[in-house]
This record gives sequence, C-alpha cells and structure tokens, in this order.
Amino acid sequence: MEATRSWKLNFGEDDFAALRALVKEHTGIHLTEQKRELVYGRLSRRLRALGLESFRAYRELLERNEGDELVQFCNAITTNLTSFFREAHHFQYLREQLLSSRAADPRGPRRLRFWSAGCSTGEEPYSLAMTIHEALPDARRWDIRILATDLDTEVLARGMRGIYEEERVRGMSAERLARFFRKEGGAAQGCSVTQELRDLITFRELNLMHTLPMKGPFDAIFCRNVVIYFDKETQRQLFARIAQLQRPGDILFLGHSENLFRVCEDYTLVGKTIYRRN
Ligand SMILES: C[S@@+](CC[C@H](N)C(=O)[O-])C[C@H]1O[C@@H](n2cnc3c(N)ncnc32)[C@H](O)[C@@H]1O
Repeated sequence: MEATRSWKLNFGEDDFAALRALVKEHTGIHLTEQKRELVYGRLSRRLRALGLESFRAYRELLERNEGDELVQFCNAITTNLTSFFREAHHFQYLREQLLSSRAADPRGPRRLRFWSAGCSTGEEPYSLAMTIHEALPDARRWDIRILATDLDTEVLARGMRGIYEEERVRGMSAERLARFFRKEGGAAQGCSVTQELRDLITFRELNLMHTLPMKGPFDAIFCRNVVIYFDKETQRQLFARIAQLQRPGDILFLGHSENLFRVCEDYTLVGKTIYRRN
C-alpha cells in the first residue's frame, strides 16, 4: 500500500538533477545515476512527512531555505552505516604503534588528540575510547580528547546518547562488554556506554565542506567511509585542509575502499588504508 502510494510521485530528470546539485553543494556527496532510486526512496519519505505532493514543491521549500529542512534533507541522504571496531586492524595499529610507544616513554607528552570525522552514531569514537583505556591503564591522568563530528544531526544525537541495541554490541568480547557497557532497563532498552568512555569524547556538528574550526594538531584522524561518496576534486580540497591539522608522523585512517592516490601527497601509506603525515 505504502509502496504503491510512494510511486505515484513524479520524480523527473530535472528533480533528480536539481537535488543532486544541492546534495553536492551541501555535503560534498556526488550522487551517481545509480543512486536515483535511493534518493527517491529517502526523499519521498520526507515529502510524505511534510505533506507535500510533488518534488517541485519540495525543491521550492529547500530553495526558500526556511526552517531546518536543509538539515533534514542532508540527514536523509547520508549513509550512516558503521559498527564497533569496524576495520579492527586500525585499532590494533593505534594500540601497537601509537599508544604503546607513548606509554613506554616516561618523559613524553601525556597529551593526545583524536578526531573521528564522520563519526555517524558514535561506534567509531567509542571504539577509539575503549582502545585508549585498554592501552593506557592510567588514561585518566593523561590529557586525552576525542572530537567526534558529523553533519547528520540525527546520528550525532544517537552518538551522544550512547545507548546501543544489544545486537550492535553482540560481536564484542565479554570482557569489553563488562568493562565498558551497562545494561539499560525500562524505556531505554539497550547497552549504555560507561562514563569513562563518554568523558573522552566531544560530539559536534560539522560539515566537512565548511571551514574546519579546529586548530589541531591531531595525533590521529579517522576519516573512514566518508569520502567514498565525494568526487576526486572534493577529496583533494578536503585532505589538503586535513593535512594542515597534523604534524609529521601523525596518523590518518581511511575507509577500506578509500585511498589518497592522486588526491593528497602529504601522507605516506604505512599500512592497509593507514597513512602517516610526511
Ligand atoms: C558510512 S558513515 C561512516 C561512519 C564511520 N566513520 C565508519 O567508518 O564506520 C559516513 C558518515 O559520514 C557523514 N558525512 C557524509 N558527508 C559528510 C560531510 N560533508 N561532512 C560531515 N560528515 C559527513 C555521514 O553523515 C555519515 O554519518
């Protein structure tokens, strides 16, 4: 019934072209022709929620830029797939190459800064926080901050809430679960991350297409599975700005299908999708 009704909406070439241009302008995401149905599916839900009967009316609403529909529009388009310890070798590298050598150096600085750029619902920064606590038993005495940013306000709110359904945490070891999660009862069903993880993380709304307000430097940046949807030129501009936030030796983690080839020469590949600032 629902599906039949949704297909009644006319989604013309001009609608797709105009919305695609808006997506590119506001998120950097380059939507290919193959994404047509996905865009239709996600946005027709917005049209129904707003009681609009045509994509033209929706485009006009976006052009007027009233209220927060532009935010809702971006939220609807972004793909937020993530999981705890996704691409686990990155966390292993961080533990073995960065955290353990810092811990072993008694005279070294006790200050670490991380950035999870495109953090989605928070699994990435919380995995990072767990890795830190596991590698540095006295982490509380260090000055450590994780900045977690995303343009999608809905996923950010979920990250801040820090309560996950049981199936989201199922793959984790019993030891980690016991140490870093508390079972929630009542209305907030699920597993809540502990305060010791929350204390390390600051969630902030940030569009990577906009000016990056942070000064850095960041010892490690996770920018994983975000630029996969950007075209090369957008990637070039972004990584040139990201490189400004790191010192030689700092680390950058990309997603499994991303790379800096012909995008940025400020980094050297040192592992699988792991880069070191030159
Ligand atoms: C597929 S998720 C990846 C999450 C996590 N980094 C991981 O690898 O599991 C991509 C995230 O990037 C965010 N994103 C996409 N374009 C963005 C932009 N221009 N600025 C900030 N975040 C963006 C999306 O909202 C989404 O939450």
